[in-house]
Amino acid sequence: MPAIDGDLMDQAAGLLKKARSLFVLTGAGISAESGVPTFRGTDGFWKNYSAEQLATPDAFAKNPRLVWEWYHWRQGLILKAEPNPGHHALVEIENRVERFLLLTQNVDDLHSRAGSKNVLQLHGNIFRARCSSCGKEDRRIGDKNASNRLPKCSCGGLLRPDVVWFGELIPSDVWRDSLKFLGGVDLALICGTSGVVWPAAAIPGIACERGIKTIEINLEPTAISSIVDVSIVGKAGEILPQLVSRLRS
Ligand code: OAD
Repeated sequence: MPAIDGDLMDQAAGLLKKARSLFVLTGAGISAESGVPTFRGTDGFWKNYSAEQLATPDAFAKNPRLVWEWYHWRQGLILKAEPNPGHHALVEIENRVERFLLLTQNVDDLHSRAGSKNVLQLHGNIFRARCSSCGKEDRRIGDKNASNRLPKCSCGGLLRPDVVWFGELIPSDVWRDSLKFLGGVDLALICGTSGVVWPAAAIPGIACERGIKTIEINLEPTAISSIVDVSIVGKAGEILPQLVSRLRS
């Protein structure tokens, strides 16, 4: 891993210092240092598992048990994980600005556990379940609920993880509120996402079109690196705390 570029860190810290309102978009990379695998890349979920067999409405209709097993396994991983210095640094950044929204594509709860307050989850929450028949949101389901019997709603329908699967619509209220908030910010920080899954992938472009300054933090250059104002290559769990210490000085 190359050394973190000090000039870029200065530029990013300068933008963060000036910003009074901030929009943050995170992806799986922010939780990677907590031990939660990302989706793409050499150790990503989609290297070992097929999205079609596990993360589509068809997959659930064909084999709900397999899908629940995968989600219970992931819940177990997340429950064992702790927020890392990147999550904690974002809490400190939130406390320094007047207006803040963190939109995450992650279905884990690590941002909230770290103490982030204004968090929206674009792809749902792995610990919630809703009915696949009547759509009612039911209850928190953890890996301890794993059993031979599939979880059911009071209407008799099967409960499913309350996450967004491939081919499904994202929650329109979350998207609408995110875009509205993005429209009024000084700065957008995009962290730990490959930037290939829509509609989240549109955020950096929308920010740039509106003249909002943009910072990217990622382990490697991505599809959006060329359009942001400052792109820093490195681990979120190292870069974000270093940015926070520059803000303090
Ligand atoms: P990806 O797995 O596509 O990308 C993770 C990104 O994080 C990559 O660009 C990595 O380089 C970067 N990364 C890894 N470790 C990092 C670290 N320590 N610090 C900084 N960056 C790091 O994950 P997402 O972009 O979140 O959707 O994927 C978007 C969506 O695709 C997911 O929400 C999921 C998936 O299919 C659904 O399940 C609907």
